[in-house]
Amino acid sequence: ADTLGSAAAGKGRYFGAAVAANHLGESAYAATLDREFNQVTPENEMKWDATEGTRNTFTFGAADQIVSHAQSQGMKVRGHTLVWHSQLPSWVSGLSATDLRSAMNNHITQVMQHYKGKIHSWDVVNEAFQDGSSGARRSSPFQDKLGSGFIEEAFRTARTADPNAKLCYNDYNTDGANAKSNAVYAMVKDFKSRGVPIDCVGFQSHFNPASPVPSDYQANLQRFADLGVDVQITELDIEGSGSAQATNYGNVVKACLAVSRCTGITVWGITDKYSWRSSGTPLLFDSNYAKKPAYNAALAAL
Ligand code: XIL
Repeated sequence: ADTLGSAAAGKGRYFGAAVAANHLGESAYAATLDREFNQVTPENEMKWDATEGTRNTFTFGAADQIVSHAQSQGMKVRGHTLVWHSQLPSWVSGLSATDLRSAMNNHITQVMQHYKGKIHSWDVVNEAFQDGSSGARRSSPFQDKLGSGFIEEAFRTARTADPNAKLCYNDYNTDGANAKSNAVYAMVKDFKSRGVPIDCVGFQSHFNPASPVPSDYQANLQRFADLGVDVQITELDIEGSGSAQATNYGNVVKACLAVSRCTGITVWGITDKYSWRSSGTPLLFDSNYAKKPAYNAALAAL
């Protein structure tokens, strides 16, 4: 196969990209997306600040644009994200516990019902654990006011809202075995043992020299898969250039393919031109949409 999407499909996986609605009108952007990828994740358009900036007033225009583009191209859509401490409107952080609980459940329900049948996996909860050695939960309005049970509650609400969507927990710095990934692992294990609905774990995989691809990346994906969940590489980008970056991309693709429950890879953007790493070059296409060595390595590994 000569594109990332078709090569991944040949291995029973998807290969996707984060997409911004405001770039879809740029012909090279849309052409590269449509040619190479068979899955999209809205980069910002489904986040709480974008979908419910005012309580109980839902705005889906930008996200709908991405979803209809994806549907017209036969691409899968990952939903990102329902409950997260960041890009959270200030009205949410100001609520009392009782109100916050109902606002969280209402947000999950309304957004998921709007997209019912159109989303293959949802990042129900994003980044709820701290970095570092504690393995503790991150402080957030949800954690601080509702306690650790907010994650379980969010997943149960999500299952009811769209029983056919896969429900994922998604985080970063969990790509190798460490205190943070051990804490997520313990949570998933506990959820599986108690029947809390969780189907998948997303590994963001934002890599850079200070946070390189871990040597136990594949083993870490495998240990989560062995708990009975799918694993997905959800926000891949790797700082660097040339052959070093290419080798890293190839290794990430190989790690996913070596884990039968690793169902797909999403890169966090199409072109270096629009990467969230503003001065970086972490993606597969350069700012002129030319294929980089990293692209060739990813394709060759598929
Ligand atoms: C980033 C987007 O790429 C930026 O455009 C935005 O300004 C901030 O968020 N973890 C996540 C993503 O789960 O939603 C983040 O996306 C990157 C880190």
